[in-house]
Amino acid sequence: MKVRITGTGWELPEYEADNNYLSTIVETSDEWITERTGIRKRHLVKDETTTSLAAGAAKKALLNAGMKAEEIQLLIVATISSDTETPSTACQVQALLGAAHAVAFDINAACSGFLYAVHIAEAFIKSGMYENALLIGAETLSKLVDWTDRGTCVLFGDGAGAAVLTASESQGILSQSIGSNGSKWEVLSCAGRPNQNPLCQGEGTPGYLRMDGQEVFKFAVKTVPICIEDALKKAGLSPDEVTYFLLHQANRRIIQSVAKRLKQPEERFPMNIDQCANTSAASLPILLAQMNEQGRLHPGDRLVLSGFGAGLTWGACVLEW
Ligand code: COA
Repeated sequence: MKVRITGTGWELPEYEADNNYLSTIVETSDEWITERTGIRKRHLVKDETTTSLAAGAAKKALLNAGMKAEEIQLLIVATISSDTETPSTACQVQALLGAAHAVAFDINAACSGFLYAVHIAEAFIKSGMYENALLIGAETLSKLVDWTDRGTCVLFGDGAGAAVLTASESQGILSQSIGSNGSKWEVLSCAGRPNQNPLCQGEGTPGYLRMDGQEVFKFAVKTVPICIEDALKKAGLSPDEVTYFLLHQANRRIIQSVAKRLKQPEERFPMNIDQCANTSAASLPILLAQMNEQGRLHPGDRLVLSGFGAGLTWGACVLEW
């Protein structure tokens, strides 16, 4: 038995902030951001929330899959920017959708979150415990970045993407490769709020995203090709047999470097980073859903989805569309 994606959806906040707008907030320029990252603009929430974006993407994915919310058995939201500490975003989305029969929970694997969700869902469906799953990557990272830190605030955007997974006899997920290295957690992190119990007296700063950009860059260009090669080997495929490589949209230069290492033309690495920036766990499902909507995916296409992020975490998934 295989597990396949039967529907996808995406949702972005209405407001678009281009690089010139950001140059009115921090000392930066369109030229610097575009050259170093490939980002031209990002969507930022005004009235939307992580939950509302997640629910919007999920509704479209259900429609695309031809399924009703009540049929969903497993609902996972990958996010690091939940609107509430508790309950989970997944439970709030469950209520908005009316997915009354689903087991709903969040996972935190930062930008690799969607792939971690795929990993979990495939195991549950293959075990026979559930027949389907609704997976959502949703973020409002604009509330986690320090808007005085030009080294990070220009990189991220808000958004959500979703996919419905179901058991399948023929096409679907062929292999996965996934990993974590907690010893490097400080390279990219966001502190929680300080404990203000009577004993601790609340030392610490608000939880803003902190990053050693060059370390993350080095980690990504080294780990992603190894991870993709491992997943392809498990699937018995060579990089030449892949239709598209969908990579986490963090930096155009990282994607170009991976393409070079895999000796593949850049055209097989679709990108929307110029429009969306880095939307963390939402990045891969947004890209997948947009390609699906544009009619760029055909039965039999072989796709590699790969991501990396805080943790450190990484993953790759090979599937036949
Ligand atoms: N605008 C203008 N200048 C900026 C800037 C900005 N937004 N951000 C940083 N700079 C400056 C730095 O202060 C530094 O100036 P200095 O030389 O006077 O000290 C200079 O640009 C170079 O900074 P550096 O950090 O060396 O640039 P870089 O080439 O490494 O590019 C990143 C920075 C963040 C774009 C790059 O390291 C990167 O993309 N890393 C991966 C980050 C990532 O993907 N994170 C998410 C993972 S999921």
